Amino acid sequence: MKKLRVGVIGVGSVVREIYQHLYFHSDFTDMLDIAAVADPNDQFRTWFCDTFKVPQNRRFTSHKEMLEKVELDAAQVNTPDHIHAGPTIDCLNAGLDVVVPKPTAAKLKDAHAMIETARKTGRLLGIDFHKREDPRIKEAEARYQSGRYGQFQVGVWYMVDKLMVADPNHKPMFFASPDFAERNTPISFLTVHMADALIKVVNLTPIEVKAVGYAHALPALQPRPVIKGYDLVDTEVRFANGAHAHIITGWHLPNTAHATTVQSSRMICAKGLFDLGLDNPGFYEIHPDGIFQVNPLFRNFEKDGTVTGYGITSPGRLYQKFLAYRNGKLDAKTQERMMTPGELGFYTTLVLEGAETSLQQGEKVADGVTVGKAMDLRKLAADQLGKKVAAAYGL
Ligand SMILES: NC(=O)c1ccc[n+]([C@@H]2O[C@H](COP(=O)([O-])OP(=O)(O)OC[C@H]3O[C@@H](n4cnc5c(N)ncnc54)[C@H](O)[C@@H]3O)[C@@H](O)[C@H]2O)c1
Repeated sequence: MKKLRVGVIGVGSVVREIYQHLYFHSDFTDMLDIAAVADPNDQFRTWFCDTFKVPQNRRFTSHKEMLEKVELDAAQVNTPDHIHAGPTIDCLNAGLDVVVPKPTAAKLKDAHAMIETARKTGRLLGIDFHKREDPRIKEAEARYQSGRYGQFQVGVWYMVDKLMVADPNHKPMFFASPDFAERNTPISFLTVHMADALIKVVNLTPIEVKAVGYAHALPALQPRPVIKGYDLVDTEVRFANGAHAHIITGWHLPNTAHATTVQSSRMICAKGLFDLGLDNPGFYEIHPDGIFQVNPLFRNFEKDGTVTGYGITSPGRLYQKFLAYRNGKLDAKTQERMMTPGELGFYTTLVLEGAETSLQQGEKVADGVTVGKAMDLRKLAADQLGKKVAAAYGL
């Protein structure tokens, strides 16, 4: 087999910003046959299918109908986080391998059900946390795990976006729909990226989270305020070895910021520290419109139209493994590594659900400031999945 027949479920913002390039203009394009699309949104479905010439009889409003009518090898489930589990489980049960954009799911129960179904069906599941393919994160992971810095003690990670990412008044709408900041939180949209990168680098199990949320900028937006959303959230994550990290994420930087997202990390360990200047990709431009930072490491629009960068490599490599698996060429070790709970984003969903619950159960301490409750993640996992299952995840 040379090409995977892929069904794309959900063709909203993330497909417009990232995956259309993967599917049609990347080094992985030759191995992907975008064979069918399912999305109930007429506007998005028609845009994608007309642009990329998906035949009328391969366009569906429901993934179930797509699975019945089209023979496929793989699917990509680009639906909102809380709708990842249903289509993923249906696709795995139909014998497909599945790519899911981060996070695995909004709830631990869903993440567990997806992992269990992949195990039961023997199919592959891959979560696209693109930071895992950022060369700086990969190098940090290898160096940290070689023992070079000693035990991780305290870290700070931050990822703060421009306001236009969440502002329903910004024209044109930047990322998503008018209720974006109410449906997503800085935790679900941003913290998960950093939590996953952190967990991958240190290879530790998170055991407690506590979040503090600030809502000052979004409720003051004009003419349309965002009433329910947070501007900024600081999530403190504690690990079993006593180490802890603050992951600070938000989306209220002035739109004049030099980059869409300003992000970095400092990790202090027993024998040294390392700084990940993630907002320093090394390319600045001075232009009549302003001073900008360009991040070609994430998305590199090359002059021949090819799009490269870790935003593309991350899902692309998952598909490469799917194809190798279909051709009987995926070695057992790689397969085993792909299917560990960490690799499948289980602990990141644990941090996500824990942090969201922390804020829900928190207390307002000042105008627009909520201090969350400390959440015991072992208890949360046991409550959600039962003690035996939680223990099997090392919790
Ligand atoms: N790689 C990244 O860094 C990155 C960036 C943005 C979003 N994401 C993730 O991508 C996913 C989608 O986010 P988005 O911003 O594109 O959301 P979106 O709301 O813009 O798009 C979601 C699409 O899914 C469709 N959909 C909803 N229910 C469906 C169903 N049952 N079957 C088929 N389609 C359905 C919607 O109609 C919509 O077109 C989320 O999990 C999000 O966290 C990842």
